Amino acid sequence: MGQGSYAFSDALKASALTLDDATLDKWLENPRALVPGNRMSFPGLKDAAKRAEIIAYLKQQR
Ligand code: HEM
Repeated sequence: MGQGSYAFSDALKASALTLDDATLDKWLENPRALVPGNRMSFPGLKDAAKRAEIIAYLKQQR
């Protein structure tokens, strides 16, 4: 996470996380808990089934 042309926050760049399924699930559940100080205002999605649907959808877009 934090690599690419987007201007990611220092918090995200310093996180040294790899965006695999488990990490993406944690990010979608509570971005602030996974990477304190990151810029994403979204509070998180508590419903695990909905998070799994989003992750499956994103994989279809590859
Ligand atoms: C698949 C779903 C999503 C993923 C993987 C994702 C991922 C990210 C990442 C990695 C960042 C950069 C954060 C940083 O640099 O600190 C970001 C920023 C942000 N995200 Fe998300 N996001 C998602 C959905 C959402 C949703 C649903 C919202 C709001 C409803 C949202 C709002 C924001 C905002 C406001 C920012 C900051 C943008 C800026 O720098 O101006 N995101 N997102």
